[in-house]
Amino acid sequence: MSLQNAYLYYDLENLFKGTILSLANAVEAKDPYTSGHVERVMNLSVEMGKKVGLKGEDLKNVELASILHDIGKIAIPDEILKKPAKLTDEEYEIIKTHVHHGARILSPIPGLKGVIPAVLHHHERWDGRGYPVGLKEKEIPLIARIIAITDSFDAMNSDRPYRKRLPPELIIKEFKDNSGKQFDPELVEIFLELKELEELFK
Ligand SMILES: [Fe+2]
Repeated sequence: MSLQNAYLYYDLENLFKGTILSLANAVEAKDPYTSGHVERVMNLSVEMGKKVGLKGEDLKNVELASILHDIGKIAIPDEILKKPAKLTDEEYEIIKTHVHHGARILSPIPGLKGVIPAVLHHHERWDGRGYPVGLKEKEIPLIARIIAITDSFDAMNSDRPYRKRLPPELIIKEFKDNSGKQFDPELVEIFLELKELEELFK
């Protein structure tokens, strides 16, 4: 009986994880330029989570939140999402709504309660000048502060339709310059020490 329960639990876990990944794939299919982005952000975020001592459920939430952070982009029109030039102020306001769409899309899933705050707040800034709320410093959920770093890193380290990836020295400089402004300074320090970065800089 308990063995059967264990199998059942295992199946449910896999179904859950598979469903989450399908959702993330749906967004990546909409914007192939971001291909692989979710997986890289997830790996880096989980490494960060371990370094700050997260375990069990909390670490699982880091993983799920990384996979799902931009799920709300599914609700953003393609011509804005894929625009190869600078966005107008109005278009930028529309892009910003992806955090609300994400939180709403995920709200029916009880297992994602611990993930939604990170989805909602991954564009907040340490100095309080981010969106959607303007939370600052440790008011911003830890997982959101982690994803703010790993997400920006992967954006800078990837080719985009309108620009090439930035050289490693420039990416490191960006993080140092923005430590305590856009990013949590303690987390930046931990991030720049990650050994996984060497591989990604190649
Ligand atoms: Fe985002």
